[in-house]
Amino acid sequence: MTSTQQIPGPLSLVCEVTHRCPLHCVYCSNPLVMQQAEAELPTEAWTRVFTEAAQLGVAHLHLTGGEPLARHDIADLIRAGRNAGLYVNMITSAIGLSEPRLAALVEAGLDHIQLSLQDADEVLANRWAGARTHAKKLEMAALIKAQPHLAFTVNIVVHRQNLDRLEEMIALAESMGPERMEIAHVQYYGWALKNRDLLLPTREQLERSTKTLREAQERLAGRIHLQAVVPDYYARYPKACVGGWGRQLMLIDPAGRAMPCHSASIISGLAFDNVRDHDLAWLWHESSAFHRFRGDDWMQEPCRSCERKTVDFGGCRCQAMQVLDDADATDPACHLSPHHEQLIKIAEAAPAGTNTLHYRTIELLSHS
Ligand code: SF4
Ligand code: FES
Repeated sequence: MTSTQQIPGPLSLVCEVTHRCPLHCVYCSNPLVMQQAEAELPTEAWTRVFTEAAQLGVAHLHLTGGEPLARHDIADLIRAGRNAGLYVNMITSAIGLSEPRLAALVEAGLDHIQLSLQDADEVLANRWAGARTHAKKLEMAALIKAQPHLAFTVNIVVHRQNLDRLEEMIALAESMGPERMEIAHVQYYGWALKNRDLLLPTREQLERSTKTLREAQERLAGRIHLQAVVPDYYARYPKACVGGWGRQLMLIDPAGRAMPCHSASIISGLAFDNVRDHDLAWLWHESSAFHRFRGDDWMQEPCRSCERKTVDFGGCRCQAMQVLDDADATDPACHLSPHHEQLIKIAEAAPAGTNTLHYRTIELLSHS
């Protein structure tokens, strides 16, 4: 195993400040069992976490959820992150936002906002979100754009049900005037995994969308940076998930559990230490969950003797767990995995599936 002393601190701290959310997205990657509001860390605990993160070398703070605007103290959290010297990004549906509230968040030090869209068509967008939110998002996008010192990314999650409208979705996002656009295929964790048969794109859709994305990247170059995330069920090599386990990212869940990724709780045998009991430096360097897949001692073949093991780190541990029930296995998205065919079969069989959509079950915001 790589010595913990050689591990530099994380670059990014992802804080799921709440699992509460007014949306019920069918592709949500939150865990199926979510933290209750009563279990959430209070403002002071998050403030300490941000200070410790900056001391550990973290540069970027991502406030996410659930919906971070569901927290009444979100402006205080932003201020605490900024005071700690972190670049503060908030990932939001914009439900719960208003002109004065946005102004307060910017005044508190918000650097960047990432707004999610579900579709170009209002009825369908609301269907994938499980809530009437599309019109409000368009309204809020205009307010966000009007903020001169706030960086703006529009994020669209694509899947089989909306991919045929990719050009319209790109046009809609473009009309909002962001600096960045992220078009990401659904990643199959949490609620998205429950809906996988209905969300996995066909190979033909994937080929068309790849061409559309390439053309859009060329057209928008110099104006809007378009980042595309492909579905790894059809990939040749897996993604270097979270930049490698315990290498670049630390995630804190609403109750304060420190995790190497958002889905790590599905891996059996992992225990997660809590920011209520330990400081961030201890958690990063000593917590057993962060050690579990560092280095390459844990790897099986073909990863162990593969030259790409320092590039993708064997892919995603959670995907290996979900598909193969073995978190140490080579990610089946890799074409070198002896189980790669299993993933291809899942992808090719999906369009024939007869499942109904499962909506993320959550409680509603108490204010907006
Ligand atoms: Fe990556 Fe392992 Fe595949 Fe090599 S065998 S490309 S290290 S996942
Ligand atoms: Fe957990 Fe990829 S989502 S390692």
